Amino acid sequence: MWDDRSALADLQLDSRERVLDVGCGTGELSRVLASETPGEVVGVDADPDLLAVARDRAGVETVAGDALRLPFPDDSFDLVVCQALLINLPDPVAAVREFRRVSSDLVAAVEPDNAGVSVESTVESESDLAARARRAYLRGVETDVTLGGEGTREAFREAGLSDATTRRHYHTRTVEPPYADRDLHSARRKASGEGLADDRATLLAGDLSVAEYDDLRSDWREMGRAVVEQMSDGEYRRAEVVPFYVTVGSI
Ligand SMILES: C[S@@+](CC[C@H](N)C(=O)[O-])C[C@H]1O[C@@H](n2cnc3c(N)ncnc32)[C@H](O)[C@@H]1O
Repeated sequence: MWDDRSALADLQLDSRERVLDVGCGTGELSRVLASETPGEVVGVDADPDLLAVARDRAGVETVAGDALRLPFPDDSFDLVVCQALLINLPDPVAAVREFRRVSSDLVAAVEPDNAGVSVESTVESESDLAARARRAYLRGVETDVTLGGEGTREAFREAGLSDATTRRHYHTRTVEPPYADRDLHSARRKASGEGLADDRATLLAGDLSVAEYDDLRSDWREMGRAVVEQMSDGEYRRAEVVPFYVTVGSI
């Protein structure tokens, strides 16, 4: 995701002494932070299994903990940052307040706007079906997965941070030959409908009826079978673009 790191410029990574990555998961961002800053990087997450991966992959110190009650004293870090965490929280402002408590200087958040995702595919129906499923998901999901730049800046203001600025970063995920194992797995899940079934409760929590869900799933599986077929001929290509927004505010 961070081949191009220009959108991280406002984090001033080259002059940080102690950086906290909240909701670090497997350490995707921690790894980038560790390679860009001369300071120490600590990852915190609620899931100890993910932290073990982050320790191995990113080589950073990790601590198990809750983003809403960080296990650190006030002003312990000069940068507290998260990536794709606030969109998963029912009260992102409460989390940003907690980031502010443990930071002595900057707070940053890298959050997507999932309403702005686009998909291009060699399977003709995939782009429209992905948009149809996404619209239903956005109507049913309980947290704000469209926070992006504007929503995050608002959360920063409410949490008492000042001078919040945002830079946009497009993350493009491509699938093309030779296919990675995860891409083959994902294609099989489309063909079986499993992927969509995992989100059934969320899709039905919006205004999608059961009949409309069944209809979507049937079209989805047909699309998945076409993906699997094109993959077996080495002809399948897909590009998904997710807009991410890097917001930075001062204490
Ligand atoms: C979408 S993942 C993002 C992981 C990582 N930041 C990245 O960009 O790859 C969200 C992460 O937030 C963690 N998480 C969710 N709620 C949390 C909470 N209240 N406290 C700490 N971590 C939390 C999850 O365990 C998960 O690892």
